[in-house]
Amino acid sequence: MIKAYAAFEKGGELKPFEYDPGDLGSHEVEIEVESCGICHSDLNMLNNDWEMTAYPFVPGHEVAGRIAEVGTDLKHLKVGQRVGLGWHSAYCMTCESCRSGDYNLCGESQGTIVGRYGGFADRVRANAASIVPLPDGIDAESAGPLFCGGITVFTPLVEFGVSPTDSVAVIGIGGLGHMALQFLNAWGCDVTAFTSSEAKKSEALEMGAHHTIDSRDPGQIDAAAGRFDFVLSTVNVKLDWNAYIGSLKPKGRLHFVGATLDPLDLGVFPLIMGQRSVSGSPVGSPAMIARMLDFAARHDIQPVIETFSFDQVNEAMAHLRSGKARYRIVLSR
Ligand SMILES: NC(=O)c1ccc[n+]([C@@H]2O[C@H](COP(=O)([O-])OP(=O)(O)OC[C@H]3O[C@@H](n4cnc5c(N)ncnc54)[C@H](OP(=O)(O)O)[C@@H]3O)[C@@H](O)[C@H]2O)c1
Ligand SMILES: [Zn+2]
Ligand SMILES: [Zn+2]
Repeated sequence: MIKAYAAFEKGGELKPFEYDPGDLGSHEVEIEVESCGICHSDLNMLNNDWEMTAYPFVPGHEVAGRIAEVGTDLKHLKVGQRVGLGWHSAYCMTCESCRSGDYNLCGESQGTIVGRYGGFADRVRANAASIVPLPDGIDAESAGPLFCGGITVFTPLVEFGVSPTDSVAVIGIGGLGHMALQFLNAWGCDVTAFTSSEAKKSEALEMGAHHTIDSRDPGQIDAAAGRFDFVLSTVNVKLDWNAYIGSLKPKGRLHFVGATLDPLDLGVFPLIMGQRSVSGSPVGSPAMIARMLDFAARHDIQPVIETFSFDQVNEAMAHLRSGKARYRIVLSR
């Protein structure tokens, strides 16, 4: 039996929950969970904000741990090996995206916490294709948040060819945003943090930003008109997106990873006249996760974490809900 924490209703308290995972599939692994980061998406899923939550609901998709059991067909993984697991637990392996290596774009992929039980547990299972070995030099508590928050802000830098000469801004300095500042600084970019929190400004500068701007002050955003090659939004709220489009240089891009639920209401002329783009992306492929982990280890990039024990999971969720997390909450043994 796997011992987990589950909510039994929308927004409900997480309570101890045991389930029988059945026989291990021949291409599956069972991971002994050492730590698990908490992403804002866990909160959205707990609240059924995206209308795809099944209860009992076990959150947790920033898992770091050791392999406890390997499927019979797997030769490349060993019991005891350190691994991580992020948003995806399985891919179809046959669609055009999978065959191109873009596993994270697979239409038939399975989410670790969507119709499956996640990592707020002593063990979790996944298809071997979706887990990635941890390099030496990345400890378990730092590793978890890289598997969702980290990879989500890293992938666009590669996919959209962000270059060291670019001026890049990050909107929202939370779990994702604070890792984005560190990646971008190591990437060589001129980095600006848009934050709504006065208190985070000095910390943003310490984490790699060169400049800070109040994300809710129209005057400050207007003053940055035409300044950025790339603006990465990690917020889950509606902001004045037309003002942020205005902050782009010609050929600049406003890229969404933050899952704001409100539709975008954008003027088309600034896009046409400046040949600007708007885009979005989900997490990253397993190969990209491996590249990111190497990059993070080489540049000593680590999430700034607050640790709670697994039995304090409800306090940890309340802390995230309050907006006071600095910067990623991690459940640890
Ligand atoms: N695309 C993907 O694959 C993917 C993967 C993971 C997560 N996500 C999504 O990314 C988003 C961020 O996740 P997270 O875990 O980083 O969340 P988080 O730690 O709660 O950070 C979100 C940040 O947004 C800013 N924010 C929140 N409310 C705001 C408001 N009213 N006005 C202005 N700014 C506000 C805050 O930054 P400041 O205090 O600096 O203003 C906050 O720290 C969520 O929507 C999550 O679902 C997407
Ligand atoms: Zn996530
Ligand atoms: Zn596929």
